[in-house]
Amino acid sequence: MDDGELQEMLRNERYPRAAGYSARWMVDASMGPNPVWQVEALAGVMAFEPGMRVLDMGCGNACSSVFLAREFGVEVWATELWVEPTEVLRRVVEAGAEERVHPVHSDARSLPYAEGFFDAIVSLGAYHYFGTDDLYLGYFSRFLKPGGRIGIVQPGPVEEYEVLPPPHLAEYWKWDFCAWHSAAWWRRHWEKTGLVTVEVADQVPYGWQDWLQWNEACDLDGGRPGREEARMLHADGGQTLGLTRVVAHRND
Ligand SMILES: C[S@@+](CC[C@H](N)C(=O)[O-])C[C@H]1O[C@@H](n2cnc3c(N)ncnc32)[C@H](O)[C@@H]1O
Repeated sequence: MDDGELQEMLRNERYPRAAGYSARWMVDASMGPNPVWQVEALAGVMAFEPGMRVLDMGCGNACSSVFLAREFGVEVWATELWVEPTEVLRRVVEAGAEERVHPVHSDARSLPYAEGFFDAIVSLGAYHYFGTDDLYLGYFSRFLKPGGRIGIVQPGPVEEYEVLPPPHLAEYWKWDFCAWHSAAWWRRHWEKTGLVTVEVADQVPYGWQDWLQWNEACDLDGGRPGREEARMLHADGGQTLGLTRVVAHRND
């Protein structure tokens, strides 16, 4: 598919800021649902001010980090495990954001930061890989200033499933989807620590359509239309699956 067709296929009026970025740049960095759309959805309910220090946890190829730095003038520590920092830096330099985006290679469970260093933390399509541990938020929130916000977006159901896998999705189910949780689940998971106050816990409006639109474009561009995840989203039709969004601030 040529770049113009891809741009057209990924036109989405819900994300006016993301529309200013090359679809090719986003698709070539893809590791899951579009992180640029997800972080724009997060920015709709979480404030970013110029000069803020932001941790982007599990940033992948750092598209969300570049977006935050360019759109809001924040400084981002693009922290990532699976992608080598040299590769992340290459992409950041290519995007002209190296002044404000700093690639760091680290496991989310052994972060190299001073406590209270960050004004905000974000995590797109990544937090469920490490954050479902009851004790994780107690560790992670230390890196945030009191009053600072943490915001996450990742796949999740509208409500917790009574049986796993849900019968209508059984043929598509992978064992690690068990880490996909509802907004209410995340609210309770965080609030029970008493360390944060949850301000938003919902599903990104039209999130499942965005996710499907993205997958269909990536699949077609990769020469493999109709891959399994897109078929699963079609089969579900937004009945259960979507993108869970949660924002909280650290209590004093
Ligand atoms: C599906 S990818 C999403 C990447 C990126 N945020 C995006 O949306 O394109 C999941 C990310 O979680 C990160 N991740 C998973 N487990 C991690 C851990 N224990 N510590 C740090 N990052 C982790 C991986 O490095 C990976 O980049």
